[in-house]
Amino acid sequence: MSQANLIAPSDDIADYLSAHENKGLLRFITCGSVDDGKSTLIGRLLYDSKLIYDDQLTALKNDAKKYGTQGDKIDFALLVDGLAAEREQGITIDVAYRFFSTDKRKFIVADTPGHEQYTRNMATGASTADLAVILVDARQGVLTQTRRHSFIVSLLGIRHIVLAVNKMDLVGYEEDAFRKIEEEYRAFASSLDFASIACIPISALEGDNITKRSPHTDWYNGPALMPYLETADVRADHGDKPFRLPVQWVNRPNLDFRGFSGTVASGSIRPGDDIVVLPSAKRSRVARIVTMDGDLAEARPDMAVTLTLEDEIDISRGDVICAGNAPAEQTDQFAAHLLWMAEDCLLPGRQYLLKTANRTVPATITALKHKINVNTLAKESGKTLELNEVGVCNLNLAQPVAFDPYKDNRRTGSFILIDRRSNATIGAGLIDFSLRRAQNVHWQDLDVDKAARAVAKNQRPCVLWFTGLSGSGKSTVANLVEKRLHDMGRHTYTLDGDNVRHGLNKDLGFTDADRVENIRRVGETARLMTDAGLITLVSFISPFQSERRMARELLQDGEFIEVYVSTPLDVCEKRDVKGLYAKARRGEIKNFTGIDSAYEAPKNPEIDVNTADISAQEAAEIIVRYLDENGYLKSDGDWSI
Ligand code: ADX
Repeated sequence: MSQANLIAPSDDIADYLSAHENKGLLRFITCGSVDDGKSTLIGRLLYDSKLIYDDQLTALKNDAKKYGTQGDKIDFALLVDGLAAEREQGITIDVAYRFFSTDKRKFIVADTPGHEQYTRNMATGASTADLAVILVDARQGVLTQTRRHSFIVSLLGIRHIVLAVNKMDLVGYEEDAFRKIEEEYRAFASSLDFASIACIPISALEGDNITKRSPHTDWYNGPALMPYLETADVRADHGDKPFRLPVQWVNRPNLDFRGFSGTVASGSIRPGDDIVVLPSAKRSRVARIVTMDGDLAEARPDMAVTLTLEDEIDISRGDVICAGNAPAEQTDQFAAHLLWMAEDCLLPGRQYLLKTANRTVPATITALKHKINVNTLAKESGKTLELNEVGVCNLNLAQPVAFDPYKDNRRTGSFILIDRRSNATIGAGLIDFSLRRAQNVHWQDLDVDKAARAVAKNQRPCVLWFTGLSGSGKSTVANLVEKRLHDMGRHTYTLDGDNVRHGLNKDLGFTDADRVENIRRVGETARLMTDAGLITLVSFISPFQSERRMARELLQDGEFIEVYVSTPLDVCEKRDVKGLYAKARRGEIKNFTGIDSAYEAPKNPEIDVNTADISAQEAAEIIVRYLDENGYLKSDGDWSI
């Protein structure tokens, strides 16, 4: 840290540089609420590590006069709260990574905001950190937030905690105040899986116990914060885990070279080592480890490398190259801990995108087994997860992925969930284990298949999916279409919302979650009927795009024909055949589509009919003509199924 280090004798320069290069790196995260003094602490660490240049310092002094809350003293929080908008609000609103360094170590600190709605940022920061500094205000002690942050960092695999009890100056540097907080925190944290907890009394503002022990706390025998961070032993041990290289791209500049590029997620590998590639399970041996700076004798975690293999085997982007004697697992169903990070609650049955280290696949939560109360760590029952809630659930993936349980490997054991429409990250998950049924239930091939049944029935099986508001005319039109097809000798079946809700879906109501499940089940049923060779008519409001898309994706191209019955709300309401709109308006029915529950209109339906403009007969005509013109009713059996 001292200036003297910068004037190293010339013959030592190489040593000096290499010592600097090889200094260990500590990634840590700071957690605390807005008022705990987190930004002040980080500013203080940066300042005391002498990485602030003079011009920044001048700006800071000027800023302090303008915005600072510390009188004439420098407001260290201003160093950290980069954006002017944030300063004006007086809060920190985004995750920021900062780099600083001392003689002993380099540091990357993820500074994450304390507001509840920003748990997402916290989880992002925590996922790469080895240690967490959790701040509490000495006057407030352990708060709900402190517990939640501790739980989340433990969930994300951080094993080392510093509990920084800040603002000791405001409690007169009282030992009792500190010990009480320490005791309460240790009691709470005992059930979390931490390897070390250091409790340090500090004042970020006054600089007590930051770089050296403070004379104000002579009852405290432990290290000051910075020396602790410089020496804490937090080796992450990605190196002694089995080798994993998610393939980011296949590097094929010419016919003589084929390499597989990516960043080593864990373990190490040398030329000659056996590897196995997932999902193909093909085996080979490493020939070379190629980098921009020449070949390597060994590749280790975090290195970006290109491997060439001794054998020509087929590997594509998204595959994982694993140690030959310890491959990852593969599954399409697993149990996981899930942290929900979106305003809209989790909908079991809805299809989201699941992104692991190497692959992105559609996935649904099939069961929420329980929620976890982050304050008491107790299990609680629940049907959904709200913003910031944590639960244990089962997931079902459209295709298998290679993974390791999170406890074995943080990199290959975690995933995020993405909303398919907004592309926003809505959840972070940790894989617990593969569900055994995924290994034990296999697809049974049957000799009489869809194609055979289609030929026998003389039709191309498909689904006519009618969507629209209640009273729009879906069922009336579907009924007419089915009659016409039946008269033409076609084999059909109609799944009608009201009818299916009397049996298969009797247990479902009209909440968003129930509608998602309603459509999931009817989508699966329609798929079975298509497989049976039928032309299936589905007449459900099916108000959400996500589930209609899911139903479409269950079928092959051309098998799903979306019929939007686009009769406007005012017309449907005027008709009010079942008297339900009147009841909804009187508040006697809740969550009524179009009144107090959303309807998301299709963007590109194959067919759009509006029964306000044309009769139900005419609408049915249009649909039958569509089937005829697009070859669904051909009788020569020449369908590409
Ligand atoms: S969906 O939204 O889940 O697709 P579905 O088509 O099964 O709905 O059922 C809709 C039918 O249920 C309506 O035609 C209406 O008769 C009846 N219904 C009863 N309550 C509601 C409600 N709250 N919202 C919409 N339809 C309702």
